Amino acid sequence: MFDLPVLNAPAQEASLYAPSDVATQDQAARKLYVETYGCHMNASDSEIVKGVMHSNGYAMTDKPDDADVILLNTCAIRDNAEKKIHERLKHLKFYKRRRQDLIIGVLGCMAERMREELVVQKNIVDLVIGPDEYRALPALVEKAFQGEKGIAVKLSRVETYDDIEPLRTEGISAWISIMRGCDKFCTFCVVPFTRGRERSRAAHLIVDETKRLWDAGFREVSLLGQNVNSYHDETAGTDFADLLRATARAVPEMRIRYTTSHPYDMSDKLIETMAEFENICKYVHLPVQSGSDRVLQAMNRDYTVEHYKERLRKIKEFMPDCALTTDIIVGFPTETEEEHVMTLELMREIRYDGAFMFKYSPRELTKAWKMTDDVAEEVKMRRLNEIIEQQQRIATEINQALVGTIEKVLVEGEGRRDASKWKGRTDTNKFVMFPHLTDEASGKTAGYVVGDIVNVRITKATSMTLVGEVVG
Ligand code: 5AD
Ligand code: SF4
Repeated sequence: MFDLPVLNAPAQEASLYAPSDVATQDQAARKLYVETYGCHMNASDSEIVKGVMHSNGYAMTDKPDDADVILLNTCAIRDNAEKKIHERLKHLKFYKRRRQDLIIGVLGCMAERMREELVVQKNIVDLVIGPDEYRALPALVEKAFQGEKGIAVKLSRVETYDDIEPLRTEGISAWISIMRGCDKFCTFCVVPFTRGRERSRAAHLIVDETKRLWDAGFREVSLLGQNVNSYHDETAGTDFADLLRATARAVPEMRIRYTTSHPYDMSDKLIETMAEFENICKYVHLPVQSGSDRVLQAMNRDYTVEHYKERLRKIKEFMPDCALTTDIIVGFPTETEEEHVMTLELMREIRYDGAFMFKYSPRELTKAWKMTDDVAEEVKMRRLNEIIEQQQRIATEINQALVGTIEKVLVEGEGRRDASKWKGRTDTNKFVMFPHLTDEASGKTAGYVVGDIVNVRITKATSMTLVGEVVG
């Protein structure tokens, strides 16, 4: 999982998948604006929040100025993620001054930690709601309009929002949360404390949801969990590989992705299932975190570098063209210079297509919080720069080797800056830009639409992007 840019809630009129029992054009409806920080899981949770509020009569807006209720779905994974929220709240204070009746709420991973500070001391926030309490939102918002502050931060062992229809508002690519929480307790990670214990949704509901998404026009789904490899539907006796197989079979033309895997539980069965189905994307995000066994042990990661490499050999044996990405933390407490060099060497040996790279950030409640954060800031910074620089060089080399090849690209639509350039993604999750040719005189487009898979000949490549032209 990784940091996403802030995602704004698009206007609900654009919805491909709005619950049909609610009048979407209700002029009198109160308007909700949701701003999302952090990982895909949070983006998916925001869709659940919008689903809950929508079925209670709220309209969505993508403009905070128009909103009656502003909700920030927060991330606590690193200190800088939390700082961003504090900055944003300072800014939202001005909105509140302008409009006394505006309701501001903090949702998600920062809720538990910040409840007192946010509600009592700062006086900006009316609601603080944790990731397992979104069903309570409409009632708490209602009370907030009556002047009552609301806090609901209990974590649940069973909540999966199985019966909530997420309000998905754009694109052809949908997230499906298949489980919540995490039981891994990596020593650096706050997620088990902010999101609670691991629990899985029923497999048949996930398969049904995928079918409905196909019928609603979606062409790609990403199955989400903090550690999808430990997904388990107890009633049906289904593990993650079974779920993937059932989903791939049920909707054979839907592209299916998943994230995130844990190297300890990346089973042969899962790898073989991925290889068996053409519609399961050949892309694995497998966070390694460090190239040193000693550091991995201190992180409570439960695998060695050799085990990790053996998993990759299995992946490459079954799927030679499978793309690989990872997460790395530099400067974990006690990490030596030699251990940092081991990480650099491992990354050179594996040659990842991409990596999300972070400086260690101490998090309260975690085991590592009690260790001295003894790698100096400037050393962390230098180590981070070294791995980033090396990774960019490797990713550029890998992508440039694709120049001249023809890739199958799922068309996502116009690029952000230039409407004549369209964007899409390969099965291996590489971002591709290509000119979209429209004949002005005839008004004919290039013969494909958003959601089609087209052949693109790659002409240029950088570490992050492929550029090409549609052929045949
Ligand atoms: N400091 C730095 N990075 C962290 N991650 C999780 N917790 C921390 C932390 N305290 C990184 C890990 C994880 C990714 C989602 O975020 O690399 O895989
Ligand atoms: Fe955090 Fe580890 Fe769970 Fe991932 S597997 S969410 S890093 S505790």
